[in-house]
Amino acid sequence: MFISFEGIDKSGKTTQAVLLAKYLKNKGYPVVSTQEPGGTCLGKKIKELILHTPREKISGIGELFLYLTDRYQHVKEVIEPSLEKGRLVISDRYTDATVAYQGYGRGLDIRWIENLNKKVTRGLLPDLTFLLDIDPKVMSERGKAEDRIEQEDFLFYTRVRQGYLQIAKSFPERVKLLNGRKEPQQISLEIRKILHKKLGE
Ligand SMILES: Nc1ncnc2c1ncn2[C@@H]1O[C@H](COP(=O)(O)OP(=O)(O)O)[C@@H](O)[C@H]1O
Ligand SMILES: [Mg+2]
Repeated sequence: MFISFEGIDKSGKTTQAVLLAKYLKNKGYPVVSTQEPGGTCLGKKIKELILHTPREKISGIGELFLYLTDRYQHVKEVIEPSLEKGRLVISDRYTDATVAYQGYGRGLDIRWIENLNKKVTRGLLPDLTFLLDIDPKVMSERGKAEDRIEQEDFLFYTRVRQGYLQIAKSFPERVKLLNGRKEPQQISLEIRKILHKKLGE
C-alpha cells in the first residue's frame, strides 16, 4: 500500500502523515515514512538547491527537472523496494505536487508534466492520496513567510490550490479531498476511515 499526502504549504500534510504513521505503527503495520523532495541522499542535496536558490536564478523548467530527478531516485531507492518488501509507504508529497505547483502554479504544460511523471515513476501511483485543502489565507495564519504573503505569492498559491482541486476531481478514486481547516484529530479520523475502507477492514 502506497499513500501520499498533498496540499499547499502549511495545509497540514506533515502533521497528518505523522499522525497516520503513528496510528498504523501502533496497529503493527510496517510503515515507511518518506517525503519529496529529500527522501534520499541525492534528494536531500536537491532539496537544498531548491530551497536556497533565489527564484529569479532558476527557471520553472529547471525547478521541474530538479523535482523529477529527486522523484526518480526516490521511487527507485525507497518507494519500490519498500513496497516489494510489503511495507506501507507514506510519502509527504509525490507526483500531484509537480502538476499542481509547476503545472497550475508556474504555468508549465500539464500534459507534459504528467508524461514526465509517468516516465520517472514508471507509472507507479499511490493507492490513496489525501489532499488537505485550505485557502491560501490560512497559510499566513499558520505562520507562512513571516506572516506576510505577497500578492504574487497569494495568486500563485491560489492557482496551486485550484490545480489540486482539479486533480481531485479528475481522480476521485485515488485522491480524497479533506477540509484542512478542521481539527487535526478530526482530519486524522477521517483519513483512518477512508484507509480502512480501502483496506477492506
Ligand atoms: N488542522 C489544523 N488546524 C490548525 N493548525 C494546523 C492543522 N494542521 C497543522 N496545523 C499547524 O499548521 C502548521 C503547518 O502544518 P504542517 O503539518 O507542517 O503543514 P505542511 O506539512 O502541509 O506544510 C503547523 O504549525 C501545524 O501545527
Ligand atoms: Mg510539511
